[in-house]
Amino acid sequence: MCGIVGYLGKKSVVPVILESLQTLEYRGYDSAGVAFLEQDCLNVYKASGKLNNLRSRLPVELFQKNGHSRHLGIGHTRWATHGAPNDETPHPHVSCDGNIALIHNGIVENFGELREELTRKGHIFHSKTDTECVVHLIEDLAKTETDFLKVLQQVTRRLVGAYALVIIDKRHPDKLYGVRNHAPLVVGIGDDELFLGSDVVALVEHTNQVSYLQNEEIVELSPEGVKVINFNGQPVEPLVEKISTGNLAVDKKGFKHFMLKEIYEQPDVLRNSLSMRLLSPEEPIQLFDEAADAKINEIERVYVVACGTSYNAGLVGRYFIEELVRIPVEVEAAGEFRYRNPLVDEKTLVIGISQSGETADTITALRQCVNKGAKVLAITNREDSTIARESHFVLPVRAGIEVSVCATKSFAAQVTVLYLLGIYLAERRQQSSPELLKSLKVGLQRLPVLVENVLHTSEEIQTLAKKYGNVRDLIFIARGINYPVALEGALKLKEISYIHAEGYSASELKHGPIAMLDPSIPVIAILTDGIVYDKMISNCQEAKARDAQVIAVNSGPMPEDVRDTFEDAVFIPQLEEMLSPILTVIPLQLLAYHIAEYLGKDVDQPRNLAKSVTVE
Ligand code: AGP
Repeated sequence: MCGIVGYLGKKSVVPVILESLQTLEYRGYDSAGVAFLEQDCLNVYKASGKLNNLRSRLPVELFQKNGHSRHLGIGHTRWATHGAPNDETPHPHVSCDGNIALIHNGIVENFGELREELTRKGHIFHSKTDTECVVHLIEDLAKTETDFLKVLQQVTRRLVGAYALVIIDKRHPDKLYGVRNHAPLVVGIGDDELFLGSDVVALVEHTNQVSYLQNEEIVELSPEGVKVINFNGQPVEPLVEKISTGNLAVDKKGFKHFMLKEIYEQPDVLRNSLSMRLLSPEEPIQLFDEAADAKINEIERVYVVACGTSYNAGLVGRYFIEELVRIPVEVEAAGEFRYRNPLVDEKTLVIGISQSGETADTITALRQCVNKGAKVLAITNREDSTIARESHFVLPVRAGIEVSVCATKSFAAQVTVLYLLGIYLAERRQQSSPELLKSLKVGLQRLPVLVENVLHTSEEIQTLAKKYGNVRDLIFIARGINYPVALEGALKLKEISYIHAEGYSASELKHGPIAMLDPSIPVIAILTDGIVYDKMISNCQEAKARDAQVIAVNSGPMPEDVRDTFEDAVFIPQLEEMLSPILTVIPLQLLAYHIAEYLGKDVDQPRNLAKSVTVE
């Protein structure tokens, strides 16, 4: 996923563009570029790598706030889909005649045939990107059509794929253009200034008046205002919304990395997720309005579709909802689900879990379910996202902006919302005893304080990070509702420290993986005081018998006679086993963070990743 911004207004455009790109850099940071008009000249600067590399290439006069004549520009941070990150692939891409500059988020699937056609017509390509074919296509069509909006309409008839485009043309020095087709694009409306951005966070410093473009819409921003048409050329009245910018602030608040800040935000995030939904353990949980309540309670089965950490949260939800509600819950990676013609119908509740709400695989899977008549519920951190807008029901997780590519607080918030959903469904269907449901609600209310307790283990975890940070492989094991936490712990470590790690059900170890174990492969075991505790102890003893160093994340008392099984142990507060994943995941988040920090890795912007993967 890439970050794209455009600006038209009275301020000096380059600083505005760079500040906005800074807030979007988490969306992709393989390369960056900016293009702006000055008098009748189109200036373009690009650099591979982080935004700072681009900033260092820009002449200092571009940063002067006054006495400038630079009012129109576009900027881009890139997560490479086509073409390795180098000095040719960054956007903006420019037409042969030097009049048009374009930036793009998404994928043009038919770029190969377009490139061949345009090359035959004499266009010269400077990169292997799919994006570059779009700017040459615009240039080509503009030769026979002077109305730029009509040109863009024609372009959309030739492109196949998901794309958000932002374009400037030096022949239209007071106009900024945008095109949206299945990739987010939002208009910002300020005082005598207009913005385009792939995410509202890029605009909140300047305005709280926004209009979200819908699919198949084209926008022209000019001193006359905002003009929107659909791909058929029909005018569209833009819906302008006033957004609350408070929780969109992007600030480390004194922490070294966003990831650590977001790990420490979890107690408050849980309070936000629970607030107005869990009023008292004696009261039934309120999640939906009456109409939605009736529809959701007709369902007979649940599918959860998600990716990455959101998928792992869904796995926790499955254990919980099946146990309490006694209906089948299947969880599948969205990228797999959508290709197997799933059996969903009007009696199926499909839950799409997505922090960003823009993950292409999840969007496509949910669209398929909507078309099959299923009831689709989005559990997301972005109420302004595509997934939220296209689902029948939405449960916002209210985690606040999560900047670090490595998801942490959003996992806790997603799992909390799944817990609330499970209890809500059980109460509506008189499934599970009221006593059990009440005790779970009491447990949920205790979670924020218990999480604060677990955060106190950070220094202890930091010591473990130094002890185990140089290993090449690491295994995470657990059972039952904490098995997904083993998967999540492995994912955290892999994605920010680049150490190979795997999560296994401890029951599976003896069916093959135990053959790998030796002193060089530490095993992190999650032990919770529940029905599988003794089995977990046995699995840890099997691992120790193969000379593996076993580290326990243990909630509840550990019998003296088994303590020597473990090389190290982190003790966390006891809680109902079904609610324990919210606690057991925290030492794993901290371990991944401290190892990555100890190894000097780029914690918030790990190589090759982006915060939201908006390509399939
Ligand atoms: C998690 O740390 C990763 N950043 C990644 O697996 C992420 O969870 C996945 O891409 C899904 O993103 P989403 O929740 O925004 O859909």
